[in-house]
Amino acid sequence: MKQLKIASIPGDGIGKEVVPAAIDVLKAVSEVHGGLQFEFTDFPYSCEYYLEHGAMMPEDGLERLKDFDSIFLGAVGNEKLVPDHVSLWGLLIKLRREFEQQINIRPAKVLNGIQSPLVNPKDFDLIVVRENSEGEYSEVGGRIFREEDEIAIQNNIFSRKGTERAMHYAFDLASKRNKHVTSATKSNGIVHSMPFWDEVFQDVAKQYPEIGTDKQHIDALTAFFVTHPDRFDVIVASNLFGDILTDLGAAVMGSIGIAPAGNINVNGKYPSMFEPVHGSAPDIIGKGVANPIGQIWTAKMMLDHHGEDEIGKVLLDVVESTTADGIITPDIGGKHSTQEVTDEIIKRLKAKA
Ligand code: NAD
Ligand code: IPM
Ligand code: MN
Repeated sequence: MKQLKIASIPGDGIGKEVVPAAIDVLKAVSEVHGGLQFEFTDFPYSCEYYLEHGAMMPEDGLERLKDFDSIFLGAVGNEKLVPDHVSLWGLLIKLRREFEQQINIRPAKVLNGIQSPLVNPKDFDLIVVRENSEGEYSEVGGRIFREEDEIAIQNNIFSRKGTERAMHYAFDLASKRNKHVTSATKSNGIVHSMPFWDEVFQDVAKQYPEIGTDKQHIDALTAFFVTHPDRFDVIVASNLFGDILTDLGAAVMGSIGIAPAGNINVNGKYPSMFEPVHGSAPDIIGKGVANPIGQIWTAKMMLDHHGEDEIGKVLLDVVESTTADGIITPDIGGKHSTQEVTDEIIKRLKAKA
């Protein structure tokens, strides 16, 4: 019997709705699988926690989380309670950084029954490998002077080590898929970081002669996502470019509520963290309509990460059978609630036992 110890952090907003839904699905997975069990431990770290304790998590928060097999996170952020830069640096980004989750993998494809804005949605099946710890999200910079003289400075940091790591991850992934990596760049002259990014990409590509490559400027790439999605398999992108591309990818999938993600600790020293692409969705909190598929698909990525790809595939097939039958939430044109979609997925999953 394999047991996975999972730290669950629902966080804010709809995180509190979709994480319990996905945990119920994982419990059903373990009934179907037999040989796999989960031990979930809940952590209340969130903006509400901040209001009570003056911090997004306790001082020994990392210590409490570090021995779990994975972290299963909903979303962080509630600007009504805490400014985003405080809540995100205090929890989401802190976990990504301190647990060295240097790679964010974000698959995107269109499921049966979900209306994509694309004409040929079947052509859209790709994975964005997002560098997750540096780039445009560096902590170097600050604000100086005041009032009309005020200046905000943000330094981007691209280390050779971090950039190479993202590229290697992308090439290794492509070798298990359709053997093509696209580099998202912006090397047409105006920034220092991207010619460097291109050089590292070229150097790493030489080590994978069997993998085809191309590079696209990020602005053109966003357009090609929509007009020529068949050109893409694995895309390697810097932190900010990857962030933006994956919301676009989610939109092409039909809704940001569907897109899954995993923050991977590549060296295996710390837990990886699984959280969907979407945020806390303040506009739909408490309405019971949050799409649980992003969080459930994210759970599938957590299963894959722990070598349980077979049951992971069964889970995604079940999800796809429910979307194909129109049992979907309003963001993708349905009339079903979070609970109804979740119950249906659990019912169909149990029928596989
Ligand atoms: P968002 O993803 O929360 O919402 C964007 C739009 O998508 C909203 O209209 C929302 O209702 C819709 N949406 C999102 N998830 C959905 C779902 N599962 N089902 C149906 N509709 C869904 O992005 P935002 O509005 O830019 O950010 C809101 C808050 O979330 C902010 O505080 C932001 O910083 C935070 N955020 C957190 C994360 C994270 O924790 N990983 C990611 C993105 C945003
Ligand atoms: C995401 C989010 C985060 C990011 C924010 C909330 C800091 O947009 O996970 O995509 O930019 O990484
Ligand atoms: Mn984002």
